[in-house]
Amino acid sequence: MITIKTKEEIGLMRKAGELLSSCHKEIAKRIRPGITTMEIDQFVENYLKQHGASPEQKGYRGYPYATCASVNDVICHGFPSQRPLQSGDIVTIDMVVNVDGWLADSAWSYAVGDISPQADHLLKVTKESLFKGIEQAVVGNRIGDISHAIQAYAEAEGLSVVRDFVGHGIGQNMHEEPQVPHYGPAGRGPRLREGMVITIEPMLNTGSYKTKVDEDGWTARTVDGGLSAQYEHTIAITEDGPFIITL
Ligand code: MF3
Ligand code: CO
Repeated sequence: MITIKTKEEIGLMRKAGELLSSCHKEIAKRIRPGITTMEIDQFVENYLKQHGASPEQKGYRGYPYATCASVNDVICHGFPSQRPLQSGDIVTIDMVVNVDGWLADSAWSYAVGDISPQADHLLKVTKESLFKGIEQAVVGNRIGDISHAIQAYAEAEGLSVVRDFVGHGIGQNMHEEPQVPHYGPAGRGPRLREGMVITIEPMLNTGSYKTKVDEDGWTARTVDGGLSAQYEHTIAITEDGPFIITL
């Protein structure tokens, strides 16, 4: 069942979204060669606590950390680690923030120091593909219109779209209906209605879209070692168009 949120409920989600967005801006200031993703994770945990919020991912289905930190060929769900980030790395930090029981979910990919032209292109296209998807998140469209817009743009830019992980409805639960694939035909899937809140979170790869999961049961990587990036926002469908809760 797809839950419809009232304006008041969307207002509560906006509080979580604003805090999440300000947290990403703080992370952006701190990303540099030498910092570890464990330090970033600690920072996030403290930052959320100080602001009366909590990291929803920690403990979710046994996930051990506040953030997912996915470096280079890791697509998503990477564990924060003690390995210092190096110039040339790309890293995706993903988190879900809980304020008074209402959630917001957003991931940003960051460049560490100087990155290759290929990595730079991947970051730019992945971010742009998210916004191509958001443009389609309007009342009366279908989920497939979002999916198709992302896939068409990403593939035209020579990148592949991960199939094994998708966006989702969100509210008082991290994962609600509907699923939001980032590939597939336009004109299919559930119709978008006012008050739906979904994530759009394309993961694009430089090589194959196929994934494999490490023995830790979480870390998802590209099968061929190619790079992967992700940008994610939480979006409310409103009569005035898509409202980006985590902008
Ligand atoms: N933020 C992720 C999403 O976009 C969820 C991460 S899985 C978790 O759906 F277990 F780490 F929470
Ligand atoms: Co997320």
